[in-house]
Amino acid sequence: MIADFSRLILGIWRIGEWELNPSEVARLLEGCLDLGLDTFDLADIYHDHQCEGMFGAALRASPGLKARIKVISKCGIALVTPSRPHHRVKHYDTSRGHILAAVEHSLAEMGLEKLDLLLIHRPDPLLEADEVAEAFHQLARRGQVAAFGASNCLPHQFDLLQSRFDEPLVAHQLEISLLHSEALFDGSLDQAQRLRVMPQAWSPLGGGRLAREPRDSALGRALATLGQELNATPEQLAIAWLLRHPAGIHPVLGSGRLERIRRLVEAQSLTLDRQQWFTLLEAARGCEIP
Ligand SMILES: NC(=O)c1ccc[n+]([C@@H]2O[C@H](COP(=O)([O-])OP(=O)(O)OC[C@H]3O[C@@H](n4cnc5c(N)ncnc54)[C@H](OP(=O)(O)O)[C@@H]3O)[C@@H](O)[C@H]2O)c1
Repeated sequence: MIADFSRLILGIWRIGEWELNPSEVARLLEGCLDLGLDTFDLADIYHDHQCEGMFGAALRASPGLKARIKVISKCGIALVTPSRPHHRVKHYDTSRGHILAAVEHSLAEMGLEKLDLLLIHRPDPLLEADEVAEAFHQLARRGQVAAFGASNCLPHQFDLLQSRFDEPLVAHQLEISLLHSEALFDGSLDQAQRLRVMPQAWSPLGGGRLAREPRDSALGRALATLGQELNATPEQLAIAWLLRHPAGIHPVLGSGRLERIRRLVEAQSLTLDRQQWFTLLEAARGCEIP
């Protein structure tokens, strides 16, 4: 069964920066659950392949947690790193064998029986869509993955994957924020709306830059003015701006601090009207729309 993912997702990419022990990570995850955020985003390569193991240690520190959460992981990037001595060059690998082995490894690292969602991390110029579809079917038959999607594709690349897979792809994870608004204009979000695919926005605060936007930039001024009007912080407005899009964007947050996550979850109660939304777009892009 396909999971019902929470509207806000917590990304675990920066776990190495959080300096938390497994029990502290478990407490962070429990705090997220209390806020209604139950979906966590990982990838096999995060934190030099250690992220999933660290997340698994947190799940083991708090038995019962794994039954309450939904987990997304990704595969398809092959890093040059001492832990993968056979990789001579950074490359993509979306071969059937690589996808199957990556999922086995992710599940073992996290101590899970099943991923709720598997994404192909990057579009691979050597991608053979029939082979990826075969791997997806095999993972679904084995009960190892509930649903599939992709990340960082252009619409035609997502279409290619979908064309050979006879189940609907459910999600497309893209970089989307006030600082990276290309997906609004390159057809990606139109495609997501048309296919009813869940768009997920990675780095929704531009990696934290939107929380630190200088007050004297056009965007900083617009965020401050609107913030006063709506009693909201710049980062809450940045999330509300994504949530206002009709494609139903799911922001993938990156903070390791529960207080900050709480404030971003609260942004779900802010609704920007059209003119507020376009004011932020104009300030971020530095020009009026045509
Ligand atoms: N599919 C892909 O190719 C791809 C690529 C990159 C990332 N991702 C996913 O997207 C997730 C989020 O990316 P991101 O970490 O760049 O997201 P982000 O939410 O844009 O940035 C999070 C960073 O901003 C900092 N920050 C500073 N002030 C903040 C505030 N007031 N509120 C919240 N955060 C603040 C956080 O630090 P503190 O921890 O100190 O709060 C953290 O370092 C990743 O974890 C990963 O799962 C996917």
